[in-house]
Amino acid sequence: MSKHTIQSIRAFEILDSRGRPTLEAHLALSNGLTATAQVPSGASTGLSEAHELRDQDPASHRGLGVLRAVHHVNTRINAALQGLDPLAQPHIDETLIALDGTPNKSRLGANAILAASCATARAAALLTGQPLWQYLSGPRRPVLPLPMVNILSGGLHAAHAMEFQDFLAIPHAAPSFAEAMRWITSIHHSARLLLEADGAYFTGGADEGGWGPKLPTNEAALSLLTRAIEHAGLKPGLEVTIALDVASSHFFRDGLYHLHSEGRSLAAPEFIDLLDRWCRNYPVVSIEDGLDQSAWDSWPSLTARLGSRSQIIGDDFLTTNPQRLTRAIAEQSANAVLVKMNQIGTLTETFAVIDQARSAGWRAVISARSGETEDSFLTDLAIASGMAQLKVGSITRSERLAKYNRALVLEQTTALPHWSTSPAQLPPIPER
Ligand code: PGA
Ligand code: ZN
Repeated sequence: MSKHTIQSIRAFEILDSRGRPTLEAHLALSNGLTATAQVPSGASTGLSEAHELRDQDPASHRGLGVLRAVHHVNTRINAALQGLDPLAQPHIDETLIALDGTPNKSRLGANAILAASCATARAAALLTGQPLWQYLSGPRRPVLPLPMVNILSGGLHAAHAMEFQDFLAIPHAAPSFAEAMRWITSIHHSARLLLEADGAYFTGGADEGGWGPKLPTNEAALSLLTRAIEHAGLKPGLEVTIALDVASSHFFRDGLYHLHSEGRSLAAPEFIDLLDRWCRNYPVVSIEDGLDQSAWDSWPSLTARLGSRSQIIGDDFLTTNPQRLTRAIAEQSANAVLVKMNQIGTLTETFAVIDQARSAGWRAVISARSGETEDSFLTDLAIASGMAQLKVGSITRSERLAKYNRALVLEQTTALPHWSTSPAQLPPIPER
């Protein structure tokens, strides 16, 4: 308990990495300390995510303004948090949840609530003189996370050039975060050279900074990424593995997965066959949203089939939601959860999901959104979670680099353990 209390919180409308409005909150304590937090925003959002409040005023930012959410921070949230103990994060978050009073935070907006939740934690870390990751970690063992890094993009993030949303490289055998990022920059560069050599048409930069090429099939992207790993002088499967974010809800309709770029549509069993084949033919060790977000009946088959060889992640499927995770654990629907703070809206609920995953023997990947800010809070969260995996996007845009650079500096200024000390939390490494 601190004798210093929250004095005020004030929010501002700022812009995210897609040029869309989001919030920055400034929180002041009674001793004069201040802390800020910025909130991210997704594009390929899941149906059961907490509600992001937007103004719907066509005259401003095509209806995407967040001035109502800003107003809620400056009025009702400010009044509710005044005088509270910033070290009592669960109480702060309960207060925010009760003040909102809806199941999906639609009254105040999850964006308004998350800004307040994160700004409080940052102020508390400052107050206790600890780095944010240390303050957040509580009883957990902090670990420097293994990044999974976007190299090629499709889907909603790259003008639908391909259906699959992300083709990511996992530098799992790198001895340090710095070396991991050196490997990744080489792979990113090699991917560009190979795409040019293949005569690929670039659709422009993708939302997370990866290449957004027009390729004939999704498998062509997988093959290209595997070749890029080799071209960079690294061994696919041994040193660097591959993760896919299929984001399949965005091409699932009427019971079928529609691969328009390939001119074919598959039912769930055939789609699972396809993913299985790709896991055998390429060093794929992690599959996110391989099935539709509502396909509760087919997720267990995917996990039974591939779960021992691959991390099966629910993103749109689980939406960092404790109730959905409870059901998915009971039904063995997946074996990993993607954790995005703004899908649920408070830090306390985010940690509840992380801890629930850990207790069930599941993995968790702490993830950014496609619309991000220059806030590096996420890196501290990933370290503090002890879950050893981080997903932030590519390496060519500063909203992503804010997170990677934070980890690069923390690696050199702290004695944080490396992800390899937490093997059970990592994707399975293919057998040699
Ligand atoms: P989003 O994309 O932030 O647009 O949801 C990220 C992801 O799907 O993992
Ligand atoms: Zn996803």
